[in-house]
Amino acid sequence: MKTPAPKEGKGESERSSTSRAGGSGSKEVLRLDEVSKIYKMGTVDVKALDRANLVIRKGELVVIIGPSGSGKSTLLHIMGLLDTPTKGHRYIDGIDTTNINEAQQARIRGHKIGFVFQRFNLIPSLTALQNVELPIILCGSCERNGKARKTLESLGMSNRLDHYPSQLSGGQVQRVAIARALVNEPEIILADEPTGNLDSKTGKEVLEILSDLHKQGRTIIIITHDESITRIAQRVVRINDGHIEE
Ligand SMILES: Nc1ncnc2c1ncn2[C@@H]1O[C@H](COP(=O)(O)OP(=O)(O)OP(=O)(O)O)[C@@H](O)[C@H]1O
Ligand SMILES: [Mg+2]
Repeated sequence: MKTPAPKEGKGESERSSTSRAGGSGSKEVLRLDEVSKIYKMGTVDVKALDRANLVIRKGELVVIIGPSGSGKSTLLHIMGLLDTPTKGHRYIDGIDTTNINEAQQARIRGHKIGFVFQRFNLIPSLTALQNVELPIILCGSCERNGKARKTLESLGMSNRLDHYPSQLSGGQVQRVAIARALVNEPEIILADEPTGNLDSKTGKEVLEILSDLHKQGRTIIIITHDESITRIAQRVVRINDGHIEE
């Protein structure tokens, strides 16, 4: 962790990104500056992200949409500190996290980022409550104090705490996954096709939950290929062939 990101109003890139974000003066939680990701396939270079610029501010609900192969998962992995850029810089909370090691990435992930995946990724041998307790246990320094239970209750799951994932409906499983993403109170919630494995009614319920969380002040980034999800967006970012457009 090194250089702080440029401060408000001091640089050209900051001024342009402020207007892109709708002019809100709230704190910058994530910034990508000219980020490229190049995968080496033998002698061939595959450019999955091409000088991508993106600023996410606290409290935004941003939907990032693009077709298959456009670079969405690559972008998600870089934003979520699951992978590093080939070129460019990534800032989390104003801190340059471009070249930090895996242990540092894991620590920042644990504190600042909550993930919601299309395939839910719950642990089948743990109950709903135990799945939500897991990030707290892994974090070590995070506050416990019944938070897992409270988070599940806030998502309408109080009568399913001891159910295993196989004993829950798809929508309930995704609510547990959302509770798990929320429990350490991360700066950013990153959702990758959160409705992709749900029927349309259940998918709508999950979008309502994400939309409510946004209204409560959470910062949410949803990655999808599904145009209908843009209806809950405060801001829509398009990605095509590794290029970000707004
Ligand atoms: N590990 C890898 N090695 C080589 N090429 C890769 C790798 N991962 C992704 N790519 C390539 O990078 C491009 C972007 O892939 P990415 O998975 O980010 O797309 P996506 O938008 O998530 O697609 P989908 O909607 O199908 O999940 C694709 O052309 C893909 O083939
Ligand atoms: Mg993908």
